[in-house]
Amino acid sequence: MRKILKWIGIVLAALVGLIIVAVIGSLVYGSASFKRTYDRPVYEIQADTSPEGVARGEYLVRTVIACGGCHGAGEEDLEKVSGPLVGDFEEFSDGPFSGVFATPNLTSDRETGLGDWTDAEIARAIREGLDNEGVELVVMPSAEFHGLSDPDVAAIVGYLRSLEPVRNEIPPFSANAFVKAALAIGLFGPRNLTEPITALQTSPPSGTAEYGGYLLGLAPCAFCHGENFAGGPVPDAEPGSPPAANLTPAGELAGWTEAGFIMTMRTGATPSGRGLDNDFMPWTVFSNMTDVDLGAIYKYLQMLPPAEP
Ligand code: HEC
Ligand code: HEC
Repeated sequence: MRKILKWIGIVLAALVGLIIVAVIGSLVYGSASFKRTYDRPVYEIQADTSPEGVARGEYLVRTVIACGGCHGAGEEDLEKVSGPLVGDFEEFSDGPFSGVFATPNLTSDRETGLGDWTDAEIARAIREGLDNEGVELVVMPSAEFHGLSDPDVAAIVGYLRSLEPVRNEIPPFSANAFVKAALAIGLFGPRNLTEPITALQTSPPSGTAEYGGYLLGLAPCAFCHGENFAGGPVPDAEPGSPPAANLTPAGELAGWTEAGFIMTMRTGATPSGRGLDNDFMPWTVFSNMTDVDLGAIYKYLQMLPPAEP
């Protein structure tokens, strides 16, 4: 009996030791790998500042991708989406995690915004997740924007360049050792840093299901509806919020026509007459998407394998 107890003691001590080593290891690794600098050539992109380019950029930024949800100023999420893109910051503290969640000012102010960045550096930040000095961006979801075509990223940069420069000092994004460790071991999801872009990127032909997939890769739909679009509980939602609907053919959409889908996205009322609450399903953000683009999204969703959350 004494012997068994002794062995249990040794095993427990070894386990505790291992856990301590793993935690210290993650903390050290997290600090060492946080916002590392990469020496990479910048892929050449020139802002499309033609009226069509700026309009295309505005459409992508405001209606499809909703960059303002993070970079916009405002109290409520929906206000931020359409608010001025002057950045925002907030101190956070959740259990062992604390820091300052800060999204940069995207206007062309030279001291507090992107005024001194080249077009290509802005495009690289969006698609590759590195700032103008090659420092890794840790929250900016560049992996989602990696597939943006050259003309579309040029249009986005053109739109950002067209914004009135606004002076708005934003502190740097900062995080304590636990946040850094969690980022390093992928607790908050995969890294946003992507492979370098070295050759022309194009998008699929407009109106096709493939083009719908291209748009769904950029828009925030999958954040709530899931990577496989089967719906389920929305991440970080208040308790009691409705789950996101299943958008695959296993859900209600299987019985909708393309016109019915477009009408739902435009009016927030489904073909069966159910109203979608904008606070949970932010349809007003997407309601100005073109018929062609919504039609392409519908075609893509109908082609998905039926799936359950
Ligand atoms: C989920 C929130 C989120 C979304 C959505 C988002 N960003 Fe960011 N972005 C950030 C954060 C946070 C940073 C800086 C900190 C970091 O990631 O390390 C950043 C950094 C950037 C930078 C680099 C600026 C600098 O001063 O370092 C650019 C440019 C940028 N974002 C543009 C965009 C554009 C354009 C969109 C929409 C296509 C967009 N972002 C969508 C959160 C977001
Ligand atoms: C912030 C989370 C969120 C985002 C972003 C979001 N949705 Fe939703 N969506 C929901 C929720 C939650 C519901 C269910 C609402 C309800 O039951 O009232 C829903 C419902 C729907 C419905 C109704 C389906 C049905 O069977 O009634 C459609 C269609 C839809 N979303 C499409 C989209 C598309 C397309 C996008 C991206 C362009 C998108 N959603 C982005 C959360 C979201």
